[in-house]
Amino acid sequence: MKMLIASVLVLFAVSSAQAEDTIKCTPPNGDVPEDFKDMTKGCFDKMRSQIQTEIDASMQYLAMGAHFAQDTINRPGFSEFFFKAAAEEREHSHKLIEYLLMRGNLTDGISTLITVNLPKKTLWTTGVEALKDALKYEVSVTKSIKGVIAQCEEDPVKTDEGVQNVNDYHLVDYLTGVYLEEQYHGQRDLAGKISTLDKLMKSHGPLGEFLYDKKLLE
Ligand SMILES: *[C@@H]1O[C@H](CO)[C@@H](O)[C@H](O)[C@H]1NC(C)=O
Ligand SMILES: [Fe+2]
Repeated sequence: MKMLIASVLVLFAVSSAQAEDTIKCTPPNGDVPEDFKDMTKGCFDKMRSQIQTEIDASMQYLAMGAHFAQDTINRPGFSEFFFKAAAEEREHSHKLIEYLLMRGNLTDGISTLITVNLPKKTLWTTGVEALKDALKYEVSVTKSIKGVIAQCEEDPVKTDEGVQNVNDYHLVDYLTGVYLEEQYHGQRDLAGKISTLDKLMKSHGPLGEFLYDKKLLE
């Protein structure tokens, strides 16, 4: 009987402790050694703002996709092209977030990571105008990626022996080999499209844009 009472008490203690945990819903953080988290502040901050830049680009292309899909405009090729671009930009921001998570330095900054800004522009008169805007946009994104690379290649860090420049080799290599690579190909693709469409419109006017829209759907 004593045994029974004792075990009932133990059970009660265990379940009330569990109930408290459930209510608070705050499991303790894992105790992870932190010396592998070696990103420097300046580089880290630039990466964070690059994530925002990719999100802003995504929102801008989303607006372009929606614009060309309106029944009064009805250019399904342009719309599909820009919706795809929006999805790619979102993927870029996702990949950068994953990178910071891999390096372990994004532990407590998630709530301030992303702001959803309205797209800067929502009206385009022609397809060429939108493609030219997209190219301008990509040029500014390329510039901003180069800014991250420059910072991460020589991030000044104060130490006991004075300021030292730290090179984040892996991140610099990743941004150069993957991101810049895609930027340059994307810019050239847009330039080619602008060229073809511009020539078509010079020779055929609005019919040129109509035909090119079909081509974009292929
Ligand atoms: C990354 O995390 C380590 C360990 O918590 C910390 O010492 C370092 O300052 C962090 N770097 C940045 C840029 O947050
Ligand atoms: Fe991008």
